[in-house]
Amino acid sequence: MASFDCVVRNGTVVTASDTVACDIGIVDGVVVALGRDLPAGRREIDASGRLVLPGGVDTHTHIEEPAKGPARNADSFDTASASAAAGGTTTVICFARQPRGGTLADKVAAYHELAKASRVDYSFHLILTDPTPELLERELPPLVEAGHRSLKIFLTYEGAKVTDAEALRVLAAARRLGALVCVHAEHNDLIEFYRDALLAAGLTAPKYHGWVKPMVVERECTHRIIAMAEALDTPIQVFHVSGAESAEEVARGQARGLKVWAETCPQYLTLTTADMDRPGFEGAKFIFSPAARTTADQEALWAAIRAGVIGNVSSDHAPSRYEGPDGKKAHGEDAPFTKVPNGLPGLATRLPVLFSEGVSKGRIDLQTFVAITATNPAKLFGLHPRKGTIAVGADADLTIWDPEKEVTITNSLLHHGSDYTPYEGMAVKGWPVTTLVRGTVVCDGGEIATAPGGGRFLARDPYPLIAPRGVFPGPFNPVDGVPA
Ligand code: URP
Ligand code: ZN
Ligand code: ZN
Repeated sequence: MASFDCVVRNGTVVTASDTVACDIGIVDGVVVALGRDLPAGRREIDASGRLVLPGGVDTHTHIEEPAKGPARNADSFDTASASAAAGGTTTVICFARQPRGGTLADKVAAYHELAKASRVDYSFHLILTDPTPELLERELPPLVEAGHRSLKIFLTYEGAKVTDAEALRVLAAARRLGALVCVHAEHNDLIEFYRDALLAAGLTAPKYHGWVKPMVVERECTHRIIAMAEALDTPIQVFHVSGAESAEEVARGQARGLKVWAETCPQYLTLTTADMDRPGFEGAKFIFSPAARTTADQEALWAAIRAGVIGNVSSDHAPSRYEGPDGKKAHGEDAPFTKVPNGLPGLATRLPVLFSEGVSKGRIDLQTFVAITATNPAKLFGLHPRKGTIAVGADADLTIWDPEKEVTITNSLLHHGSDYTPYEGMAVKGWPVTTLVRGTVVCDGGEIATAPGGGRFLARDPYPLIAPRGVFPGPFNPVDGVPA
């Protein structure tokens, strides 16, 4: 009788700390043995000549989220999870959004229903767009208790942004409830000032998306939210750090001992302002926020990754189609950049682009690659050690990786709902060949191997990493109204 449901044999297992040649024995979706010459499994997967990595954990994905009409998010959980599986990602955290002036609990319940079509495991951040006392004191506590242990606020975007006063109330509530606040940090009034001036000057092409939000817009806001988090002794994650100056703000906060974490995304490591200036309307494919920066910013971001200042590289997968009435061209090819839906698809390409640009080109080592794509995000969001590593007792979420495979990226490889990829034609070295979620092969040789569904919701229990430090900048704790 076979000892294991599945054995992944003869591979080189890579974690954030080690590289070891060994087999992996799986029972009931969990890793139960790591060792040489394990007995036969009912299913045998030969990983000779391959790396076996923890399945990717992508903690910033917009899936089937309502968009501002007529735009539409191009993915369902069916297509997004197929795309995740094809790209070696086995866990996603996506967003349930409070409608402005509305309740969150109903939206969370509806989102749980949609997510049942996911092939990969999932958890939710809760986007707070209207943090009323009713929401923070009554609706939110049971939602956090039920395992939605991260909140997201926007400091820009009409219809989503919160004021500084509201951001402070969210930080205070998160501190009391034991949730991590994730922040989209851009100075809204400054963006609107630039926007009005650009439109008045007739500067409307896609490339002016880069002009409307230069680095200072993000740098100032990153500084501000870190200061607010410091004042309230509340840990935060700064989303999508796009360049040197914001990374410096994060590093300064960390040097003061604050629990400030940061992510960047492959687009900030590979695309530049020049992409928004591609011929015709094509630059619209590269409209996302914050905007792409310079090659010098890219090198600063790689340095911040190597220094541990940026610990997480997520996709910020926010797909629109390019063609059609609900995509980038929804308002026509002459539409000003302000009318173009923000965001780009990136779930499937996150790992291959990062591996190729990072590991294959010698900018980071394998351990760092695993750390920033799986282990650190799993730790930061309370999913570790079940997710983000390969260890006895962990879920058997595995990506079998061919480090030598050379692929030219094209949209048809990616299985998402968008009709384009910003990386069309990019040559990469290193590619995921087989992806397993809890021991089940979900993608093999580029083919999706399971029907929609099968992914599980990951409720997150309280965890110590995001506990406040108990340190305030003054003698008073303004969250609890007591001396510090
Ligand atoms: O352009 C982007 N990133 N769109 C998605 C929403 C966000 O800002 O994260
Ligand atoms: Zn954002
Ligand atoms: Zn986002």
